[in-house]
Amino acid sequence: MFSAPLVFLFSAVCAHAATFQPSGIPFKGPVVTPAGLSASVVFSNLTTPRGIAFDELGNLLVVERGLGISVLTEVQGGWEREIVVNNTDFTHGIVVDGRRIFASTATTIIEHFWDPETRTVTDAFPAVTGLPGDGELTTHTFLLDRDKDNIVRGYLVGSGPLTNIDLTARDPASGRSQIRRLKLPEVQIAVFPPPPIGWPGDDLVAFGIRNPAGFAFRDGGLYVVENAASIDAVPGFEGDFANDNPADELEFVDLSAKAKSYGFPDCSTVWNPFGRPGLSKGDQFNLNLDGTRDDAFCKQVANNEPPVLNFQAHSVPLDIKFYDRSQKNGRVGLPARFDGDAFVSFHGSFNRVPPTGYGVVRVPFPLNGDSYEFIVQGPESCGLPRSRKVHPSRRIGL
Ligand SMILES: *[C@@H]1O[C@H](CO)[C@@H](O)[C@H](O)[C@H]1NC(C)=O
Ligand SMILES: *[C@@H]1O[C@H](CO)[C@@H](O)[C@H](O)[C@H]1NC(C)=O
Repeated sequence: MFSAPLVFLFSAVCAHAATFQPSGIPFKGPVVTPAGLSASVVFSNLTTPRGIAFDELGNLLVVERGLGISVLTEVQGGWEREIVVNNTDFTHGIVVDGRRIFASTATTIIEHFWDPETRTVTDAFPAVTGLPGDGELTTHTFLLDRDKDNIVRGYLVGSGPLTNIDLTARDPASGRSQIRRLKLPEVQIAVFPPPPIGWPGDDLVAFGIRNPAGFAFRDGGLYVVENAASIDAVPGFEGDFANDNPADELEFVDLSAKAKSYGFPDCSTVWNPFGRPGLSKGDQFNLNLDGTRDDAFCKQVANNEPPVLNFQAHSVPLDIKFYDRSQKNGRVGLPARFDGDAFVSFHGSFNRVPPTGYGVVRVPFPLNGDSYEFIVQGPESCGLPRSRKVHPSRRIGL
């Protein structure tokens, strides 16, 4: 009998400021879609939006790097945006699980209690701590790790390199360029908030993945989009070759197998061989960092698990999601023929001339060679700065 007045009071106190943006706002530059598809802006002028995820009511939660988490809600004639968490430390990853939102900073995954009705965060505490937060690439993508009964048992968490080409990443104990499974304690701990789980733990899942930027489950494992190194300062690989190599990669990590190396820092994938003898597109080649880790070393799967698909060099894939039409929440999704395919967002690179990427590609599954196509492609070179904004309008209805 007390709940009604309490709810009323709660929503009165929490009447926060929403900003409305009408639909039909143009893109900042021309956007190309294939015949039969169209793209529109959901909300513009966000602060470096990264991970996005829908909640159970269809609210779209957005990590705005350097700002916090905002929620976008569709209303008559457009969308409303509210900032629901102020935290300038968020970098990239977000997972929504029922009434919980998890988001990552350079060092921590923070769990928030989320009320989708009032669009309010009611509590927050660190869930995973001790992630390596120094170095050049401090995004930590992650997913919840579930058992066969769909119970959350922990987290799968990625970590990037200390530097562009990080020799310390050869040793899995470095905690760099790898994916780990962090397990929740078997026994529920009767304190609140529960103590956080500490990185790195002892459960290595994969290593030698330079910058694992996006994860998605399928086929009993994890598909991971990997951002390859820039090699323009590596002797022997400058100029045109560095402009078009190495390929960015899609990796497959078998979660039931022993952790494998995916080659970083020594081994990379050819995108454009430029007629170099002995090199073809898709070949594994070495970066001459260590005489014993030559091309023959890189071609051995025991040393270097090769990618399952290659993306054009400097595409900078940020995320991957599989399209499951049975999960479309009543929203009109993509064509039925795309069911089961992967969609990968590209940041696009500042260090390629002309720039590439910036858009969303469809990767048909089952995989068939290096086949993928843009379903939304942004301006190639419209003077956007390094921190190009990938609008949630690039979301792909998944
Ligand atoms: C976004 O920001 C630009 C630059 O400040 C401004 O011109 C534009 O009107 C804004 N767009 C919206 C929809 O608010
Ligand atoms: C975020 O910060 C702004 C500016 O200080 C404040 O107005 C707003 O209430 C804060 N929002 C939340 C959810 O804490």
